[in-house]
Amino acid sequence: MKGVILAGGLGTRLYPLTYATNKHLLPVYNQPMIFYPIQTLVKAGIKDIMIVASGPHSGDFIHVLRNGKEFGIDHLEYAYQEKPNGGIADALSVTEDFADGGSITVILGDNTTDADIKGDVDKFKEGALVFVKKVPDPKRFGVPKFDPDDKNKIVEIVEKPQDPPSDYAVTGLYMYDKNVFEYMRTCKPSARGELEITDVNNVYIQKNQLGWSELNGYWLDAGTYDTLLTANVYWAKKAGSSAVSS
Ligand code: G1P
Repeated sequence: MKGVILAGGLGTRLYPLTYATNKHLLPVYNQPMIFYPIQTLVKAGIKDIMIVASGPHSGDFIHVLRNGKEFGIDHLEYAYQEKPNGGIADALSVTEDFADGGSITVILGDNTTDADIKGDVDKFKEGALVFVKKVPDPKRFGVPKFDPDDKNKIVEIVEKPQDPPSDYAVTGLYMYDKNVFEYMRTCKPSARGELEITDVNNVYIQKNQLGWSELNGYWLDAGTYDTLLTANVYWAKKAGSSAVSS
């Protein structure tokens, strides 16, 4: 299994913090944000990793991560997404050659978690799998609608719904088989002008090929001022910092 970390975009939600560097290199306590998704993949045994960057600070990644050896990565590659506002699925499309017909685990560069996904990674064979997590504010995310007759089944994922069909978020952690690139090509940009990963996941649902698993740990996407602060506090506490009360 290879791994992909999507670290593109302009980080406009965090302006002016992202004027000087990419969002995924901002500090989350004692590490740049992207270290957390790297550690999630490496902990799951995924050591062949591609990072997709875009925007004006793409070159910053190589200064920080170099060849990835200090994280236990065997092979680290970088790719460039031409359109920083193209969306998550557009960023993923540039990894087709890297995936080389195999399955991939994908994680968004601003998602920090201490969950262990190794069990799911080892079991994964085909189709797609999304990791979900119960959240207090589902409207901010892709939200799964579960089959009322069979709670094990997601019948649809709705992106940033006004009226969320459940109190779960589809986190930025996904596993895909080789068909993801073909399915992606059938998707059209959404109202916000992005190729949505939610639309790709809905193609898997229509084909009855989408599974899900609940993340067994803390999870937060650190892409706004408030969630960035919350993530800093969580990881500082976890590291035993005396600057935050437990
Ligand atoms: C993206 C996805 C959304 C998902 C979220 C997780 O949202 O579109 O489905 O729940 O990541 O972090 P965005 O960060 O692009 O608003």
